[in-house]
Amino acid sequence: MGGRLTSFHGGPESDRTGFPRIQIMTALQLYQPFRLGTLKLKNRIVMAPMTRSFSPEGVPTSQVADYYARRAEEEVGLIISEGTVVNRPAASYDPSIPRFYGEKPLQGWKTVIDKVHAAGGVMAPQLWHVGIVAPGASGWLPPAPFEGPSGYVAPGKTGGVAMTEHNIAETIRAFAQAAAEAKALGFDAVEIHGAHGYLIDQFFWHPTNQRTDRYGGQSLAERTRFATELICAVRQAVGPDFPISLRISQWKPQDFTARLATTPQEMEAWLAPLAKAGVDLFHCSQRRFWEAEFPGSDLNLAGWVKKLTGKTTITVGSVGLSGDFLAAFRGETSTPSSLDELLRRFDRGDFDLVGVGRPLLADPGWSRKIHAGLSSELCGFSKAALATLS
Ligand SMILES: Cc1cc2nc3c(=O)[nH]c(=O)nc-3n(C[C@H](O)[C@H](O)[C@H](O)COP(=O)(O)O)c2cc1C
Repeated sequence: MGGRLTSFHGGPESDRTGFPRIQIMTALQLYQPFRLGTLKLKNRIVMAPMTRSFSPEGVPTSQVADYYARRAEEEVGLIISEGTVVNRPAASYDPSIPRFYGEKPLQGWKTVIDKVHAAGGVMAPQLWHVGIVAPGASGWLPPAPFEGPSGYVAPGKTGGVAMTEHNIAETIRAFAQAAAEAKALGFDAVEIHGAHGYLIDQFFWHPTNQRTDRYGGQSLAERTRFATELICAVRQAVGPDFPISLRISQWKPQDFTARLATTPQEMEAWLAPLAKAGVDLFHCSQRRFWEAEFPGSDLNLAGWVKKLTGKTTITVGSVGLSGDFLAAFRGETSTPSSLDELLRRFDRGDFDLVGVGRPLLADPGWSRKIHAGLSSELCGFSKAALATLS
């Protein structure tokens, strides 16, 4: 019988944390093992990628390794690293974002994966190129201009240079090289960051991709060519069995209401070539996992992607929390919330894995507590948690 992390209906009390009280019975179905090719997970909980900027000059420190190892010890099934940038001069907007190239950063990542494995964990790095972005808060700028499909960061707003075909080929090569390094270092899988308005998503999105060559086009399917070539190159670099995840989103920080695919047909035309090129797992990013993707069905993004591609999917977005992560950046505190709706969808088979961001950032023990039903020990999320790597 499937258990539940349910809303507590017994009265207006709150527990000792001051948060509205929730009662956990169990969420045992999330603690069933999962296998995808060579990837063997002890449960369905995935730590979502979260940029922490604690890697001076792009080198992950031993504190970064310990931070991930703590999550591995505490029943996280799959850890996806913070975005880590590939070898392009303007792939990053912050020198403390880890790199996934060069001797010292790769040594740092070797320590990370060794500690995670020693703690019984499974981990994939999230490979990232930021594309065209506004400079970070520090004002730091990379040694070359930001690069993207057409020079646009948002509709009608320029912020960098348009990539030549040579730049595109070099970028694809950089992703493939990083994926090969991930495998060589001993990581269990690799994730490509194709979401949230960064480089790959800038190719998908028409307002930022105005190209008239073969990497542009009026249809989303045409604008998928860059990502498809990139996935093919990554697949070639890692061989047939190494799992490849692709993170996608409809929303972008440039426009929360943006939609790449407005119909299931468009979504299928977008994702089928990517699945064929080698994606094993789609990581479907929403701000709120319960929001329906298309009218006429309550399926969310992960539900539609699984239905249309037949591939494994991860859902993510405000799992177990009251507010979304952009509200959290504005300083709003999110409190623990019921898992009922998540489990209803999971039990229906909408998705295979569940991404959890802020709860795991704030509390390495979140997954263990959910498994054990320790609702009074859940701590929610406030922006203060970003200040340390605990
Ligand atoms: C501090 C922070 C950093 C993030 N950095 C990344 C990132 O590097 N790559 C990425 O794909 N998503 C990133 N995200 C988004 C999360 O992976 C996740 O999708 C989002 O927080 C929603 O999940 P949650 O509601 O469980 O926090 C970040 C989120 C937070 C809170």
